[in-house]
Amino acid sequence: MNPVAIAGIGQTPLRENWGKSLKELAGEAAFAAMYDAADERVDAIFVGNMLSGMSSGQAHLGTMLADWIGKRGAEAVKVESACSSGGSALRMGILAVASGEFENVLVVGVEKMTEVKGPDITAALATAADADWEVVHGVSFVALNALLMRRYMHEHGWQHDDFAPFSINAHANAIHNPFARFHQPLTLEGYRKAPMVSSPINLMDASPTCDGAAAVLLTRPERARKPGRPTVRILASATATDTLAVHSRKDPTWLRAAEQSVKAAYAQAGIGPEDIDLFEAHDAFSIMAALSLEACGFAERGQGPRLALDGEITPRGRIPIATRGGLKGRGHPVGATGVYQVVEAAQQLRGECGETQVENARLALTQNIGGSGATIVTHILGVE
Ligand code: COA
Repeated sequence: MNPVAIAGIGQTPLRENWGKSLKELAGEAAFAAMYDAADERVDAIFVGNMLSGMSSGQAHLGTMLADWIGKRGAEAVKVESACSSGGSALRMGILAVASGEFENVLVVGVEKMTEVKGPDITAALATAADADWEVVHGVSFVALNALLMRRYMHEHGWQHDDFAPFSINAHANAIHNPFARFHQPLTLEGYRKAPMVSSPINLMDASPTCDGAAAVLLTRPERARKPGRPTVRILASATATDTLAVHSRKDPTWLRAAEQSVKAAYAQAGIGPEDIDLFEAHDAFSIMAALSLEACGFAERGQGPRLALDGEITPRGRIPIATRGGLKGRGHPVGATGVYQVVEAAQQLRGECGETQVENARLALTQNIGGSGATIVTHILGVE
């Protein structure tokens, strides 16, 4: 396979954005990435999205975007794997460049969630779960994660307060990210007092719904290099799947697909968890941050919260996570999130993160989760 590099990155602010349509958001991120790359060549487009048909009445996103940004004729397709759609689209783009089929591939993740009423978006998000065996019982996505968190607390003896540092760190980092959804700090008291959504998950354990788009322009390393700026390379890309329904797993509190996917990625890059400088984890719920840290080899089983309580997940800690706010603080526009994660990892490797810059960051791990651990897409980025 040929080496692949990131020529340009782009993103839109994450918030309720009723003034811009799906295509306008996607186009804004795409043009930002081309501007950043100082290159407008695009041979193929992959769009990551989960909900557009339901939330915007718009399917056919590949061609929609190619048409909107003046790339008519380019091959273009939408990629869907629930909340990991962005990561999956990126992987398709990487494979397309690595195979030699295309030289310049644009990957855009886009989602609009806030124009739809709360109950409708909750129902739409539940389509990531098993319709026949889970959703039929009326379970929501938050409720499924609440069951996992309750079980994990029971198995490992953690209290609700022990998860607070995940959310506090995410909010603290988001303050310094101008694109983030939230710019308010969170205290332990604020965490404790947050309204309950689905016990034990309260508002501060959950990522918010929002609108946004992020984009990455991929190419061969020699075309990505720019004077005075480090070149970010894709060192690994891997996906693994698990049962769609959580109850079908022998061991629901272990993210088996995350372990499988990250092991494949570590092997491709020829590194291990000890080499990773920062981890953009899929902290859609605080329980997912804990489980991801364990599956990726940063904590012993059942000990994810210990890392957070010891301050090891902050930008100055052993394994910084959510360095730009993560899903909790930056926001989680589901099908776009995987691309935001890679944009932010690239910012870290280029040294563009100011207050939350991880010192000497050279290797970044990103992991995007579809469903409650059913699809896991892992990428490792490095700097030349
Ligand atoms: N964290 C902190 N504040 C939040 C928040 C969150 N996750 N979600 C909403 N808020 C705030 C809003 O900013 C707003 O504040 P304001 O009144 O000061 O403007 C207020 O809470 C109400 O916002 P609203 O959008 O009406 O919230 P909601 O009650 O409809 O939804 C959740 C809250 C948590 C239920 C919803 O965001 C949710 O379902 N999140 C999970 C999404 C999900 O499952 N994603 C897929 C995971 S893989």
